[in-house]
Amino acid sequence: MVFDNILETIGKTPLVRLNNVVSHIPATVYAKLEAFNPGLSAKDRIALHMIERAERMGKLRPGGTVVDATSGNTGFSLAMVCAIKGYRCILTVTSKISEDKLNNLRAMGAEVELCPQDVQPDDPRSYYRRAEQIAKEIPGAYYINQNFNPDNGEAHYLSTGPEIWEQTAGRVSWIIGSASTGGTLCGSARYLREQNPGLKVVAVDAYGSVLKKYHETGVYDINEIYPYRIEGTGKNIIPANVDFELIDRFVKVTDQDSAVKARLIARREGILAGYSSGAALQCLDQIKGELTEKDVVVLIFADHGCKYVSKVFSDAWMQTQGFMPETEPALADLPQVAV
Ligand SMILES: Cc1ncc(COP(=O)(O)O)c(C=O)c1O
Repeated sequence: MVFDNILETIGKTPLVRLNNVVSHIPATVYAKLEAFNPGLSAKDRIALHMIERAERMGKLRPGGTVVDATSGNTGFSLAMVCAIKGYRCILTVTSKISEDKLNNLRAMGAEVELCPQDVQPDDPRSYYRRAEQIAKEIPGAYYINQNFNPDNGEAHYLSTGPEIWEQTAGRVSWIIGSASTGGTLCGSARYLREQNPGLKVVAVDAYGSVLKKYHETGVYDINEIYPYRIEGTGKNIIPANVDFELIDRFVKVTDQDSAVKARLIARREGILAGYSSGAALQCLDQIKGELTEKDVVVLIFADHGCKYVSKVFSDAWMQTQGFMPETEPALADLPQVAV
């Protein structure tokens, strides 16, 4: 297959059955491998859609500037789209970002401003406020605002959701994925729920995020906010792209369990997926009692593990965090899977 540019390769990612890591789960489990996008994450889909919508609405013109606050993946995808379309790309990120991700953004030509991680979202130093401010100061700049931009969720409503429906031949009964802006899970799930009103939607949340409590009580509680390690899971604000009515429940997972699961996915499935993919598998483990053999579960594996080689996939980092399990399965322990 031949493409005119890299952007044409976005989407149509594979759905791959998980075997060894779910042998104790009474359901058929698939992973939607968003790392197959050219920018190695689901965010390629929204970057292209949000920028092209802004172009169509006259909010972004040739020679313009794209600005956003992003923990990394959206920034990389925006930088990729900007490189092809000739826009300047300015990104604000929190100091939690891994060095790998930071270098990747710069390699893609983005200008990056590092903002403190431990400030309130409405603090002028926060990465949200800085992005807003930068976009106001630069003529012709467009603030992407992925948390509140409906084109984020729409990108997944138009592509990821229909792909999952088609790939499972309409059999999908559960969808599980991290919610951060909410676009990936809620956009996909909105389409799937329209096809199957019985679809169960489970959002993975982190300890240190406000989302689960907000879903259960309607209270935005700043006491829920504290630093955590998983990237792309949970939030310290309430993004408009999280559709709380669509989501059946939020499940919190720990940094350690999610890291250990990400490593297990690599060793047992041969898939080097990101930290939040480990979180999705951990979430599945925590709700497995609710599943039956008839269920078809889709886990969103949002990005690629190569983005975490100095974190989750570094033994030294795991040991520093106190996350390293005493034993991890060696290749010799692998059960044989019929192929
Ligand atoms: C690695 C990773 N996983 C999951 C997500 C969650 O996606 P969304 O922002 O669409 O909720 C993100 C987004 O920040 C991410 O970067």
